[in-house]
Amino acid sequence: MMRSMFLPLLFVLGATAARTWISLPMNVIPNMTDIEPFYSHVDVLFGTPPQTVKPVINLSGSMLAAWSTDCVFCAGEDLFDSEDSTSLKPGGGPWPLGTPDFNGDYVNDTVSFGGVLNSEGQKFVLMETMSANFPTRMEDGHLGLWVNASSPIDNSVFKRLWASDDLLNPVIGMRFDPRSPAITIGALDETAYEGTINWVQLEDPTTNYTNAIKIDGVKGYNGSFLPFGDGLIASLNSIYRNIAVPPSNPYALDANYTGPIELINLYPDGGFGFTCGSYVPLTVTINGVDYQVESSDMLHPISLMSATGICNVALKNTTADVKPDVVLGQPFLRSVYIAYRFPTDDCPGFYGFAFPSGANRTQAQISQQPASTPSLASQCLSLTKPTSTPTPKAQIQTSVKVGSYEVWGQSDEKVQLLDAGSLDQAVWVSPTGT
Ligand SMILES: *[C@@H]1O[C@H](CO)[C@@H](O)[C@H](O)[C@H]1NC(C)=O
Ligand SMILES: *[C@@H]1O[C@H](CO)[C@@H](O)[C@H](O)[C@H]1NC(C)=O
Ligand SMILES: *[C@@H]1O[C@H](CO)[C@@H](O)[C@H](O)[C@H]1NC(C)=O
Ligand SMILES: *[C@@H]1O[C@H](CO)[C@@H](O)[C@H](O)[C@H]1NC(C)=O
Ligand SMILES: *[C@@H]1O[C@H](CO)[C@@H](O)[C@H](O)[C@H]1NC(C)=O
Ligand SMILES: *[C@@H]1O[C@H](CO)[C@@H](O)[C@H](O)[C@H]1NC(C)=O
Ligand SMILES: *[C@@H]1O[C@H](CO)[C@@H](O)[C@H](O)[C@H]1NC(C)=O
Ligand SMILES: *[C@@H]1O[C@H](CO)[C@@H](O)[C@H](O)[C@H]1NC(C)=O
Ligand SMILES: *[C@@H]1O[C@H](CO)[C@@H](O)[C@H](O)[C@H]1NC(C)=O
Repeated sequence: MMRSMFLPLLFVLGATAARTWISLPMNVIPNMTDIEPFYSHVDVLFGTPPQTVKPVINLSGSMLAAWSTDCVFCAGEDLFDSEDSTSLKPGGGPWPLGTPDFNGDYVNDTVSFGGVLNSEGQKFVLMETMSANFPTRMEDGHLGLWVNASSPIDNSVFKRLWASDDLLNPVIGMRFDPRSPAITIGALDETAYEGTINWVQLEDPTTNYTNAIKIDGVKGYNGSFLPFGDGLIASLNSIYRNIAVPPSNPYALDANYTGPIELINLYPDGGFGFTCGSYVPLTVTINGVDYQVESSDMLHPISLMSATGICNVALKNTTADVKPDVVLGQPFLRSVYIAYRFPTDDCPGFYGFAFPSGANRTQAQISQQPASTPSLASQCLSLTKPTSTPTPKAQIQTSVKVGSYEVWGQSDEKVQLLDAGSLDQAVWVSPTGT
């Protein structure tokens, strides 16, 4: 067997690097259900040598965090071993939002996307405690994709990469569609979407939402808007299984909105179900463009055995008179291509929407044009098109160490991991093969 070793970094981080971008695969579940974990993940490299962590993507948050291997009850398989990183420094005390159930410390270390976009001395949270009672069993870590315009630059990996002239554009592209799910940082991948990018400026954050936009409304089968009024504010939420609309929602009980349905199961709490495999017509209209939501993502099996049984319809209620009016969770995100132009000095944040390439959309849908163009478009939304696609520079396998491990619940003694030497050790595959 080949002798395993860590190969030296052959590229100089940050130095004279041209502005670039990266496309990384996203992990999403193939089909939405109401039982399985549904979070979306992307590989992020932490430390030196780089360790792969697969944090949960949170469109509403800005926190960057890796769960520590020391963390008792932290969920996930690729936790971050800070003791193995030669570049880690303490970074400024406890995470201020920590609770007894969920807390950790700020540290500084290199954080990299694919070995191509590298942020050295990046501040992030090393999570040390996640109680077994902590309801959100997020695995591995947290990658907040929302950029807080007022937060210090050092806190945001995306702001830092932009400020250090590493990014081609201050933009992130997202495809949650289970056919080729991917995230791009620094440019949009023109092969990943069809149609015009429909740009909409983000609303200023409030205590009740960070990343929200105005939408025209939500339509049912007959093409009419559901009667929720004007001035609707919608947030995009990657950690929400459903789409939520105001509680005046007549959808379930009006065949003009549902279309011909095979069966409705009305639950006492107001939720409802259709026969799995039915067609659920739902369209979200943004700046004059209709975005059809995939029907299969709107029907959630309630048990893995219920493929031919009843599925919950992923249409829930928000709270009356509380903004956002509409929450666009995974069923919406999986049905569109999303661009996020994050805020920089002179520009606010924007979301842009298009149609995922390869999705079942008609030419009439794809050729729709936005009703208006943001007034800051020429200043903020003229993106530089990439001329080539950089490939990730390093592939890292999970490290297995020979030696003594702390095994929780056994005793205060460390125990020997038996036969660890026979397992494959970490191999860092250098791009150049040297
Ligand atoms: C699962 O999702 C795929 C699309 O990703 C779809 O073609 C298929 O019909 C879905 N299966 C079920 C059982 O919903
Ligand atoms: C996502 O981010 C928002 C805003 O910071 C936060 O309130 C929420 O708890 C986060 N969700 C998870 C699962 O971390
Ligand atoms: C952590 O990094 C920030 C810059 O990102 C720097 O200001 C700070 O001094 C660093 N802290 C340590 C302990 O190195
Ligand atoms: C954004 O950053 C500012 C400055 O650090 C902070 O006061 C504010 O709470 C942050 N906003 C959100 C929604 O996290
Ligand atoms: C469906 O819409 C038609 C008008 O197009 C209306 O006459 C009818 O009452 C509606 N049905 C229900 C259940 O509201
Ligand atoms: C669609 O259905 C709604 C609710 O029943 C009704 O008010 C509206 O008139 C219908 N629109 C069309 C175009 O039929
Ligand atoms: C949603 O709102 C409708 C109309 O107000 C109500 O009938 C239904 O019970 C609510 N559903 C839930 C799940 O709260
Ligand atoms: C924010 O949410 C709280 C309850 O969650 C509500 O009392 C408050 O009115 C909301 N604020 C706005 C502006 O919607
Ligand atoms: C494509 O969409 C049409 C409606 O626009 C629907 O009738 C058809 O079943 C869909 N096909 C697939 C493979 O999802």
